[in-house]
Amino acid sequence: MKKRIAVCPGSFDPVTLGHRDIIQRASKLFDKVIVLVSVNAMKNPSFTAVERVKLIEKVTADLDNVVIDINDGLLADYVKKVGACAIIKGLRAVSDFEYEFQMALANKILYDGAETVFLTTSAENMYLSSSVVKQIASFGGDITHFVPECILEDIKERLWKEPEEIK
Ligand code: PNS
Repeated sequence: MKKRIAVCPGSFDPVTLGHRDIIQRASKLFDKVIVLVSVNAMKNPSFTAVERVKLIEKVTADLDNVVIDINDGLLADYVKKVGACAIIKGLRAVSDFEYEFQMALANKILYDGAETVFLTTSAENMYLSSSVVKQIASFGGDITHFVPECILEDIKERLWKEPEEIK
């Protein structure tokens, strides 16, 4: 039988507990999940694509049917190329909806062979985003409740600023 492949795209700059939750839940719904580190033209990432892949590899090491890839082109082209039937996105709040809806429609026009599937974020991750993590870490704050424990030190190492460095 044909494997049901889902692509879970995002900036993952860096991956958070919210991302991990969505990836893990998607891995139960599909035969294979490709976590795709992608380019968001509106964002200026803090971590390189390779660094982001390494962090995602650590936090998904226990998920057998999850692989990670990088794409610097259109998501729709990638989805078509790998024969995926779904694009997985996490929805946190109504504020996410308009943007995500627009992307889902655009992707459907670009490639009709896959559906965007929205998974609602778990209640405890409603407030969580990579930007929140980066901001707290750069002010020397505690990010233990926001990112998986196995990458805590990697993120601190990259983003932590000593109090005297904070203007
Ligand atoms: O985590 P993000 O930043 O919200 O993810 C957005 C992302 C990277 C999935 C989106 O910007 C994207 O798909 N980029 C790839 C280029 C593309 O296909 N853009 C058109 C989408 S309508």
